[in-house]
Amino acid sequence: MSGSLYHVLTARQFDRAELDALFAASGDMERIVREGGSTRFSNKILTTLFFEASTRTRLSFEAAMHRLGGRVIGTENAAQFSSAIKGETLEDTIRIVSGYSDLVVMRHTEIGAAQLAATVATVPVINAGDGAGEHPTQALLDLYSIQKELGRIDDIRIAMIGDLANGRTVHSLSYMLANYKNVHIEYVAPDNVRIPVEVKRYLVEHGVSFEESTDLRKAAAEADVVYQTRIQKERFLSLEEYEKASGKYVIDASLLDVMRPDAIILHPLPRAGEIETRVDRDPRAAYFRQAQNGLYLRMALIEKCLTS
Ligand code: CP
Repeated sequence: MSGSLYHVLTARQFDRAELDALFAASGDMERIVREGGSTRFSNKILTTLFFEASTRTRLSFEAAMHRLGGRVIGTENAAQFSSAIKGETLEDTIRIVSGYSDLVVMRHTEIGAAQLAATVATVPVINAGDGAGEHPTQALLDLYSIQKELGRIDDIRIAMIGDLANGRTVHSLSYMLANYKNVHIEYVAPDNVRIPVEVKRYLVEHGVSFEESTDLRKAAAEADVVYQTRIQKERFLSLEEYEKASGKYVIDASLLDVMRPDAIILHPLPRAGEIETRVDRDPRAAYFRQAQNGLYLRMALIEKCLTS
């Protein structure tokens, strides 16, 4: 954190009280949207600066700002359409947009880019994904979705599946779950994309129970939350390595048969074949509701950043 600005840089910065307050505020935002939105931040401007592709994160932040009455400037392909392509440093870009707006939401290819941005920003910075590092606002909406769907976040068993090495959402979600009681995480991943050692170390230090396995059916049968992720083709150094991981763990109709009737399936999306579209019809498929929750959660987060 720099000065008194409220940045959102890592899932590790949140405590239980802050999470409870954010989820309560997200519920209020659902009502505000139903009632036609707010004009509360009509004098505020949000910058979205995305150096990597996005549908949900960028558009839900932009929609959130509009729903709160604010305005948005930005670039959806900052690597090409900002002066980064002329060699401008990230620090200089952030200094400039800090002068134009009240809040910066950024996604970058490099781990730690948001932290770097926060060292020079004069307005709050929100990390919307930094390479294979973290995606804290996704973890916030994931937990908000679990709370809404199951009525609790304590006392859950969650199976995280897929590309756990490159999947920044699972890193942030794992860190954030350390705030809750009696959580067990089962990581199911191909051998070349297992959960990183630094995430496991954090869980050990914070007393979170976890295991690693290769048995998707067993993990899904025991889970309250089945959290599937995409194999991130763009982060592999070779096609051969990608193909070793791809297609290994797919949620299909037969997996639904072994899952608990009250379990849910989440996915940060986009998907690329790892959940069959037939699964969408099952009421336990909560991933589109999860994406919708991103709007409300991000409205609450914008409010928090602009009023702290
Ligand atoms: N979940 C997520 O970050 O989606 P986008 O890449 O579309 O923003």
